[in-house]
Amino acid sequence: MALVLDGSLAAASIRLQIAEEVKAYVAKGHRAPGLVAILVGEDGASQTYVGAKKTACDEVGYAGDVRRFPASITEEALLAEIEKINQDESIDGLIVQLPLPKHISEEKVTQAILPGKDVDGFHDINMGKLAKGDEAGVKPATPYGITLLMKHYGIEANGKHVVVVGRSNIVGRPMSMLLSAAAPYGNATVTLCHSRTQNLAAFTREADILVVALGKPGFVTADMVKDGAVVIDVGTTRVDDASRKSGWRLCGDVDYEAVLPKVSAITPVPKGVGPMTITGLMMNTLEVYKAKFA
Ligand code: GUN
Repeated sequence: MALVLDGSLAAASIRLQIAEEVKAYVAKGHRAPGLVAILVGEDGASQTYVGAKKTACDEVGYAGDVRRFPASITEEALLAEIEKINQDESIDGLIVQLPLPKHISEEKVTQAILPGKDVDGFHDINMGKLAKGDEAGVKPATPYGITLLMKHYGIEANGKHVVVVGRSNIVGRPMSMLLSAAAPYGNATVTLCHSRTQNLAAFTREADILVVALGKPGFVTADMVKDGAVVIDVGTTRVDDASRKSGWRLCGDVDYEAVLPKVSAITPVPKGVGPMTITGLMMNTLEVYKAKFA
């Protein structure tokens, strides 16, 4: 029987630990950690994600603040808001929910966030530190959350062959760097596959741990997975589903029902990696905060 790696359970358990730490700092007279999420426009998925981040803040005792701006905000005005938060000593972490309206450069916005407050871990400084294996940087939230999920369930990457499918800057590439780092969560031999990889299945079948972050629903079929592998599915694509009130459901990159009987462990979608992204964000915020008061 495969172990189902339940991200909701792991996230709840880690949130309890974070809440305990926050309580201890506040009891010593410190302010609570502060996290601001900037939301531009009315994108439905973004509103859901930011809402979940605010709820997580409330649960762990952070001062969580969502700042909403209309899609019509200029790039200049948004950059000025970011600068204000950069200067605000009471705010430890800042995220700008992506995607942004077309007239605003996501790259400029990402690089405008002070690297020490970039709790998404998207800034070039943090990506650069990650590439060098420098632990001082803020880790990218989703790959970090995945390492926390693995730790929660006792899954060791050390010495294993990890195959990552997808080379995005948010998941695939930083995941490959984290798991190959000389660190407790790393020390794996990592193969990074992508859209130009030839004979992809030959690689995925060699994986002890397979991480899939493509955004192609059901792409990984049972014949692409080794017996006893650990499968981490980062895909979250909305697919039409007339049987749901919303008219859609979330679908992962892995054909879950077909792969489940073959593997030793697998993340479901939803309630797998999704909640762990927020956990990564919460942990990053805690680490930035603690470094100030250590
Ligand atoms: N949009 C989709 N995923 C993310 C994320 O992890 N962080 C931010 N800021 N925006 C996103």
